Amino acid sequence: MSAAEHRLSTSVLVIGTGGSGLRAAIELAEAGVAVLAVGKRPRLDAHTALAAGGINAALGTMDPQDSWRQHAADTIKESYHLANPHTVEIVTRGAGRGIADLERYGMAFAREEDGRISQRYFGAHTYRRTAFAGDYTGLEIQRTLVRRAEQVEVPILDGVYITRILVRDNVVFGAYGFDLTDGTRYLIHADAVILAAGGHTRIWRRTSSRRDENTGDSFRLAVEAGARLRDPELVQFHPSGLLEPQNAAGTLVSEAARGEGGILRNGLGERFMTRYDPERMELSTRDRVALAAYTEISEGRGTDNGGVWLDVSHLPRETIMTRLPRVYQTLLELQMLDITTSPIEIAPTAHYSMGGVWVRPEDHGTDVDGLYAIGEASSGLHGANRLGGNSLIELLVFGRIVGRAAAEYSAGLQAQRRSAAAVDEARTEVDDLLAAEGSENVRALQRAIRNTMTEHAGVVRDEAGLRAGLDELDAIEERIGAVGIHPDIAGYADLAHAFDLEASALAARATLAAALERRETRGCHNRSDHPDLDPELAVNLVWSPGAGVVREPVPPVPPEIADLIGEVSQEGKLVE
Ligand code: FUM
Repeated sequence: MSAAEHRLSTSVLVIGTGGSGLRAAIELAEAGVAVLAVGKRPRLDAHTALAAGGINAALGTMDPQDSWRQHAADTIKESYHLANPHTVEIVTRGAGRGIADLERYGMAFAREEDGRISQRYFGAHTYRRTAFAGDYTGLEIQRTLVRRAEQVEVPILDGVYITRILVRDNVVFGAYGFDLTDGTRYLIHADAVILAAGGHTRIWRRTSSRRDENTGDSFRLAVEAGARLRDPELVQFHPSGLLEPQNAAGTLVSEAARGEGGILRNGLGERFMTRYDPERMELSTRDRVALAAYTEISEGRGTDNGGVWLDVSHLPRETIMTRLPRVYQTLLELQMLDITTSPIEIAPTAHYSMGGVWVRPEDHGTDVDGLYAIGEASSGLHGANRLGGNSLIELLVFGRIVGRAAAEYSAGLQAQRRSAAAVDEARTEVDDLLAAEGSENVRALQRAIRNTMTEHAGVVRDEAGLRAGLDELDAIEERIGAVGIHPDIAGYADLAHAFDLEASALAARATLAAALERRETRGCHNRSDHPDLDPELAVNLVWSPGAGVVREPVPPVPPEIADLIGEVSQEGKLVE
């Protein structure tokens, strides 16, 4: 054996220390179940910390007529009927409890003078139901969950990269990984594994994810364990990502900026949303606003740099300082721009994987016994267009449910058979990559994938482009076979990049294949060669390497929710 290896054992292993992973781990620890959480980033800097504008629950603090049913109806309508109604009901019914859990853990929500939790508008919500902490909501949630996890003594390993979920006969028995600093290996035996390691939006060039996060690692881990992916093509492009500086391109400007009254203008100074959704304007759905901005830019009405303007400078300074402090700080830090006096140049940015690992609605179990997926790694809630603020509440609600489900699974396990062969394979995979001396550079190949996805699978797609994307990916995958890996005195990041690269290639293949099959325009998925909704495609697309893309029907919407939905219109979908 080549390297030092720690051997650990626990009842439930949680992979990922963002909001969903921590919430599940807290549930387990509160129930007295042995749990271990591992994350590749420092726990306080998990991707959840970037989530900005808010978290949804029909609390009715501002609009008492709101209800979980209306929240469910809005979510299903704006998903273009691809959200699983059962998943939606669980989240919207459980949302109040999710907020109460955060309050119990000491979360500092913004409040009205009389103490009520404040709630603001986010795009396409019938009522004000987005609770917040300035525009640092995710950061505050992450801090709150880390604090609670530490109180209930959840063991957390930072800086550990998981390379394999260990499976025997379709039953999970742990995971394998390595320490990002010193390369020490980890063999972790567990009754159950919860995968909470994010999505795949880093495989586009302009993205709101930072380097080395959301590279598709959840998708790869799940698929290699025997799970499938659902709707990987449904990727939300957020309308407002920064253009500059280059190395921070895509950084999010929160939808809260529009929620608080921000205005969008094109390079000619026109308030262009009048053309796309004159009623809801800047508070239209994300897919419409992103497509509108994209269309203005691609038709030559953008700014000189290829963006549009988002202007909050007419808002009271006090509003900006208290409700948009992160946008204010970010623009000062990155561009030395004062948003109280100047507009912000933005363009659509890959923001959220609405598809993900296939899971059952009730407990988020996957096709593999004992393997669960939650948060952005999973699928079922968002369909073809996610309501802003729904992802943060999802992680609270399903973190609790999945923690319980994994605890029950572990308690009910009569015996567990492990596989020495599976462990050996995991070890050898790491050994082989460490020995790789090829001439191809991992970072360059990651860039190649991002170029391919940006070119061929961005806001607007077509058959020829998607096929060209698959051809390019074949060529990139061949080059991946010839990489050279060079850990150095600084650590084992290069090894992690190599696994990320394989993950990104798999995520890109699944995305392109499903995008090809979805020959229609629905929500975020704009096919210029198929500009209409196709009722036959009101289905989820489930991908696996063996079976390719398979259609899966979406269950019917219960009448009490269906009655509140109304028409899903194609207005504003100006794809040509
Ligand atoms: O714009 C935002 O603040 C993003 C929120 C979300 O994606 O839920």
